[in-house]
Amino acid sequence: MKVAVFSAKPHDRRFLDAANAAAGGRHELIYFDAHLTADTALLADGAGAVCAFVNDHVDRAALSALGSRGISLVALRSAGFNNVDFRAADELGIAIARVPAYSPEAVAEHTAALILSLNRKIHRAYARVREGNFTLDGLLGFTISGRTVGIVGAGRIGIAFARIMLGFGCEVIAYDPFPSPELEALGGRYVSLEELLKNSDIVSLHCPLTAGTRHLIDADALGKMKLGAMLINTSRGGVVDTRALIAALKSSRIGQVGLDVYEEEEGLFFEDMSGRAIGDDVFARLLTFPNVLITGHQGFFTAEALTAIAETTIANLTAFEDQGRPLHSVVFTY
Ligand code: NAI
Repeated sequence: MKVAVFSAKPHDRRFLDAANAAAGGRHELIYFDAHLTADTALLADGAGAVCAFVNDHVDRAALSALGSRGISLVALRSAGFNNVDFRAADELGIAIARVPAYSPEAVAEHTAALILSLNRKIHRAYARVREGNFTLDGLLGFTISGRTVGIVGAGRIGIAFARIMLGFGCEVIAYDPFPSPELEALGGRYVSLEELLKNSDIVSLHCPLTAGTRHLIDADALGKMKLGAMLINTSRGGVVDTRALIAALKSSRIGQVGLDVYEEEEGLFFEDMSGRAIGDDVFARLLTFPNVLITGHQGFFTAEALTAIAETTIANLTAFEDQGRPLHSVVFTY
């Protein structure tokens, strides 16, 4: 099947080509740097499916443009699917596939990396030592062992992260509307969101972005957190109200913030903006805080995760071509 791959970076080509070759080269993969939108959908002319990533617009306009070209599958190279208009996909008869679990550990480990770097100021220490400055002023951290870590969303990534933090000797509490026995078996405990915010030294977000979780962490929630607590978001930017977060940083209510995602990351993340002005003043303000550490949506970025994403994506395409259904279709109830 001919497949138009949008938002394709060199690593996408490398890992998808390898997975396609390993599966006998079944599919003809055509790569485009462009994001998928209603306007760029015409690039998929002649294809049977498109392959999209987190910042592609799989909205009604794009889906209509794809549908009118006879495309009946969008294969997401991601676990999250908040960028898809499922009602439109249903109406247009377009199937949506995703990669449900490629390496929860990869994202969980990146979350731990943000916590450790922020707490011990590794990013600042690295620059300081390279300048020949070996003073310790401003590098004071806290011992993580014995602290309380609050996990919002104890799914695959949340559980993998719980395992790491329990290994550090932390007390792990979690909030999830659908508790599973796995967390408790590991030694964690479910609490209400209110209790989690009140008692956690570190709050880490691992829930999906839905209508119910958009701005879950708003001014009210930030106000309930322990004074000086750390907030980490590696889920989706929209779960946090960034303007409220900036206010909480300015008032020192929140002590440290680690972000791998940002609500307006599209157009910024995955692009080289080093020679250009950043037009987003909210993001620019975030960058000015010494106690904020931001990475550009790289939680998933390990060789193992990219291999699994590519293999599952190829398997989704093959199953769709052979049986009319992708291996992992997203069934959405609305
Ligand atoms: P999952 O579906 O296994 O787990 C999500 C958990 O969140 C579930 O247990 C669910 O019950 C819970 N949840 C749903 N609504 C909630 C709410 N209102 N409050 C608290 N919990 C709620 O998903 P998985 O694989 O653990 O991924 C979680 C999210 O991580 C994805 O949706 C995606 O947005 C993000 N992600 C980020 C990556 C990165 O590179 N930074 C890579 C992969 C995923």
